[in-house]
Amino acid sequence: MAELPVRAPRALLPLLPVLLGVLLPPAGSRGPPGPEQLLVLTVATEATDGYERFLRSAKRFNYSVQTLGLGQAWRGGDVAHTVGGGQKVRWLKSAMAPLRTRQDLLVLFVDSYDVVFAGGPRELLEQFWGAGGGGGGVGVLFSAEGFCWPQEELAASYPPPPAGGKAFLNSGGFLGFAPAVWRLVERWRFRDDDDDQLFYTRLYLNPHIRDELGLALDHHSRIFQNLNGALDEVVLKFQPGGVRVRNVVTDSLPMVIHGNGPTKLQLNYLGNYVPSGWSYEGGCGDCDLDLRPLEGVPEAELPRVLLGVFLEQPTPFVGRFLQRLLLLDYPPARLRLFLHCGVPQLLSQVTALWPRLLRHFASAQLVGPQEGLGGDAARDMGMSLCRRDPQCQHYLSLDGDVTLSHPGTLRALLRQNRKVLAPLLSRPGQLWSNFWGALSPDGYYARSQDYVDIVQGKRRGVWNVPYISHAYLVSGAALRGPLGDGAVFTRPDTDPDMAFCRHARQRGLFLHVTNREEFGHLLVTSGYNSSRRHPDLWELPRNPRDWEDKYLHQNYSRIFQENLYQEPCPDVYQFPFFSEEFCQELLDEVEDYGKWSQDHHEGGAQAVALGLLGLEPVWLGALRRFLTPVTRKFFPGYQPKGRAVLSDVIRYGPRPSAPPTPARGPAATISLSLSLSPPQGGGWHFPRYNCGVPAPPPGWALLHPGRLTHPRHLLSTPGGTHHVLLTLLDP
Ligand SMILES: *[C@@H]1O[C@H](CO)[C@@H](O)[C@H](O)[C@H]1NC(C)=O
Ligand SMILES: *[C@@H]1O[C@H](CO)[C@@H](O)[C@H](O)[C@H]1NC(C)=O
Ligand SMILES: *[C@@H]1O[C@H](CO)[C@@H](O)[C@H](O)[C@H]1NC(C)=O
Repeated sequence: MAELPVRAPRALLPLLPVLLGVLLPPAGSRGPPGPEQLLVLTVATEATDGYERFLRSAKRFNYSVQTLGLGQAWRGGDVAHTVGGGQKVRWLKSAMAPLRTRQDLLVLFVDSYDVVFAGGPRELLEQFWGAGGGGGGVGVLFSAEGFCWPQEELAASYPPPPAGGKAFLNSGGFLGFAPAVWRLVERWRFRDDDDDQLFYTRLYLNPHIRDELGLALDHHSRIFQNLNGALDEVVLKFQPGGVRVRNVVTDSLPMVIHGNGPTKLQLNYLGNYVPSGWSYEGGCGDCDLDLRPLEGVPEAELPRVLLGVFLEQPTPFVGRFLQRLLLLDYPPARLRLFLHCGVPQLLSQVTALWPRLLRHFASAQLVGPQEGLGGDAARDMGMSLCRRDPQCQHYLSLDGDVTLSHPGTLRALLRQNRKVLAPLLSRPGQLWSNFWGALSPDGYYARSQDYVDIVQGKRRGVWNVPYISHAYLVSGAALRGPLGDGAVFTRPDTDPDMAFCRHARQRGLFLHVTNREEFGHLLVTSGYNSSRRHPDLWELPRNPRDWEDKYLHQNYSRIFQENLYQEPCPDVYQFPFFSEEFCQELLDEVEDYGKWSQDHHEGGAQAVALGLLGLEPVWLGALRRFLTPVTRKFFPGYQPKGRAVLSDVIRYGPRPSAPPTPARGPAATISLSLSLSPPQGGGWHFPRYNCGVPAPPPGWALLHPGRLTHPRHLLSTPGGTHHVLLTLLDP
């Protein structure tokens, strides 16, 4: 114990209590007093997110806290988002006056916006005792740091620090018995915007006052950890019962963590774990704090939410995106929609669905590309629609490249009850996501230690982070408070999301992301060729989940679950394979291409090879994914190699009562015919088995072995034209 050097030589220590009289408790007093004798005094003019976090942490460790200045005007000078300055000392002086004779009372003064507790009062008092606070010569113990601030030139006047200790006083935290703290602050006779740290520093640097008041510094962070300049010394220590901050240089577990200077964001990061009850067993920290129950709330009393939807770049699967808005698990009467479409190529998909959207929501407003609104101005417009409407309680901003597959996302976000909260979304299989875990010094992305674990869901919780984008819920309190004045997204030097996040950070508004549930994912937008008629068809390699959602037959999985297929002839199988949208869009593309050839195919049928549309790789990729499980089921032992001998869209014309024509074309192991349009008669005949099969409905496929066992003849199509995508696999 007693590693903290005190100001007096050790030989004098026993005498000090006598010299100091009322300032210190009686010499030789027992151990430290109980936690009930410790009062925490802090200053906050506004209940910011930081202040509320401070209170939460104090509550967790049972500190009793008294806040000075709440609701009062701040006159302590230009300190953008921390409390600092002389007004703090003036308030502390008034608060201490009635306590000045309380010899049994210990007073801990700390800042609040950028402080969290990481340990309880009992061990804090033990450390104070160990430092000499219990009659060992220390009247008031200040926190220490490595920077001499605000007057660097005072550094030379400081006594040299003990080995491995920080030399300079920081007034963001100090601790002493009430009479000693009073003797300190009663000397304040300055202006509210004079510097409080300079005031305490001058007292400390005066050797007479230092000795008289027993002023000392917590050089080794036994109690106070200032983060500025010390980030490399600090690690998180996961242990049963919770996470501690450990200073690895001094081997201490400080209880008061102060994100001073530029380290406020690092404090947010630490605050995700301390003191929120994390342990190495996992757990969810503060997740369940202040939940807003929504279960059983009548629909008409659910919060009113404005959806701000932004299509700002060429994006695949916009039709699906808009349809999902209709499927949100939330009463549409409580939802309004603002949609900005800044991309001319996407407008037709929007207008196709607009009448349904308009009918569905309580109100809907569309701003199209012809308005020439930039992405930043559009976002400011959407947000201000909610801000200006007193009935609007929340604003959900959603970008077009988000696949929000969980329809209950809005409810989940509301239930979590944070001012700003994003659902975690990432690109499947990648580390690219809609949040940053840390910020580089110049304000860009930096990877936090836990980023990968959070993206991959190995740690789940609600996380305070410096940057979110793509989808987030903002409460009315934030919209009308910290985000309340002027443009939030519009800044000349950065993109809208970065402007928004920077704005929030500067106002002390915490940005959260949650990965407690799976909400959906982000689309890949690069490589999307919006000059095609149906560019989504090409997206399988980049966005397989969304491709599958749109183009795979709705009942495909029932082939395996319920044997939903037919075997009309031996080894000839019919099953649902692709969606009607797939068939229709493929046909549109083929018709647009328009150059039908008459090569190879039976009965005068015409063909377009998929390769000519650049679709063959996509199609073969789809077969590898979706046909392989089917062949494994029907032809066990056969392993498709996935090489196509041919894949053509074939157009069979009307052929009234022609004799069956033998099919031409190369031999292959497997033949797959996918109906693209409703058959009007037609079909195939397998002479070896004397068995006929009518053409299947659109989206269904016919699968059978190749010519060796299953040569086939075309049946007549009296009714009209029929389109088939024929694929011969594996020579
Ligand atoms: C805080 O006080 C409550 C009630 O007195 C008690 O149940 C709890 O264990 C205390 N917590 C700590 C960390 O001391
Ligand atoms: C985009 O599609 C058009 C046809 O619609 C094609 O001419 C063009 O080469 C494609 N661009 C790219 C980059 O693939
Ligand atoms: C899938 O099966 C269900 C039940 O048989 C049917 O109602 C539905 O229309 C099928 N879906 C498609 C796209 O054919």
